[in-house]
Amino acid sequence: MDSDTQASPPVWAASLAPNTLFDPFAPTEAVIDSYPPLFAAEMAAPGMEGARMWVATRFEPIREIFQNGERYSSHGVYPYFRAMNIDLTAIPIDVDPPEHTRYRKFLEPSFSPRAMVALEPLIRANIDKLIDSFIDKGQCDISYDYSRIYPVRVFMELMGFPEERFDDFLSWSHPMHFETDNFERYSWGTKSALAFMQGFINEVRSRPPDDTVASRIVHGECEGSKLTDKEVLGTIFFLWDGGMDTVAATSSLMFRRLALDPDLQQLLRDNPDRMANAVEEFLRMHPTVNTVRIALVDHELEGQQIKAGDRLMCMVAAGNFDPDKYEDPRSFRLDRSQNHHFTFVAGPHRCLGINLARFELRLALSEILRRIPDFRIKPGVDCMAVPGLMGAPNVPIVWDTGAS
Ligand code: HEM
Repeated sequence: MDSDTQASPPVWAASLAPNTLFDPFAPTEAVIDSYPPLFAAEMAAPGMEGARMWVATRFEPIREIFQNGERYSSHGVYPYFRAMNIDLTAIPIDVDPPEHTRYRKFLEPSFSPRAMVALEPLIRANIDKLIDSFIDKGQCDISYDYSRIYPVRVFMELMGFPEERFDDFLSWSHPMHFETDNFERYSWGTKSALAFMQGFINEVRSRPPDDTVASRIVHGECEGSKLTDKEVLGTIFFLWDGGMDTVAATSSLMFRRLALDPDLQQLLRDNPDRMANAVEEFLRMHPTVNTVRIALVDHELEGQQIKAGDRLMCMVAAGNFDPDKYEDPRSFRLDRSQNHHFTFVAGPHRCLGINLARFELRLALSEILRRIPDFRIKPGVDCMAVPGLMGAPNVPIVWDTGAS
């Protein structure tokens, strides 16, 4: 291998790089064309150095890895506590069934479809207020002024987090997701959030129980007993991390795509009753994270010999674009009857916030299409998509105010 070849990242890693493409996931197509369903790769992430890593690039092996709990574990994949030698477990992601099941049963009622429908007035109030703030201007940054804000505000209220901490929360979570090569910043973000959570939990404990999710975790009973102090902290910290920026990132890519694609925008304006399908297709086409599992036993997968302890990274975008699974996988289609994608993974660790995420995205999308006329990217601006939590931090758009 010459030095030029060594310097350039492999195709699969390049597909995760920042870009300004119309479809930020377009490079994933090269992964499907260039790699087998499962291949060995090197990967350096905080706390994962030196591990043997496999990369799965098709629907079937990814499904198997997510769903087969006897072969694959998610214990040890959550990086933050391990990277900093903090003696805490991220609940529920870092726990395998059957122990995992009791935590899920405890947490699921707070995020059920019914509980989310009850949030509709709160979500609408947040969305309407933001749209009111820019509707007359004929322009806004639909990522920074809208997508960045509404899901975080809703999530904070649902959890019971103090709203004045909004800016702190974003400043702590940013280095955790986007500055992973700067350990000082990464560690500062994690430790600041953790210190806040500890104080917050003490306060919740000192107050009578209420309906917020944090209060239910602190005061509630999980299969007949209260969670220990460490379990409470590991759960509330992980929920904070999982629930904070994920919808915001997806929302930024959803509106970026619409602003770049007038035909798609028109299709959705013509089909206001298809918003649930539209959101599912945006989710399939814009997955924010890739996910790792650890092999529990020696076994064979896709003709490869996997050893216990090996890590397997599921390239969610590649699985979501598998031509053997999806007809015309690179096209946005409203008529997919079985849209089973991996954006929320699958199996026991399927995202707990799935109902909240879908509902928020649906309302945010319908309201923008209802209130803002045809919009497009403001000429000459930067609306780069960046990985970490794949999203576009800035998506400045313009529209004709005379038409609104
Ligand atoms: C579009 C938005 C979202 C996306 C794309 C997303 C994605 C994911 C993914 C990929 C996982 C699996 C991680 C893994 O297996 O390593 C996950 C798990 C999880 N997510 Fe989400 N998420 C979103 C929104 C939310 C929200 C709003 C919450 C708030 C409660 C949340 C809470 C969780 C929790 C608690 C888990 C762990 C589930 C378990 O281990 O049983 N997520 N999410």
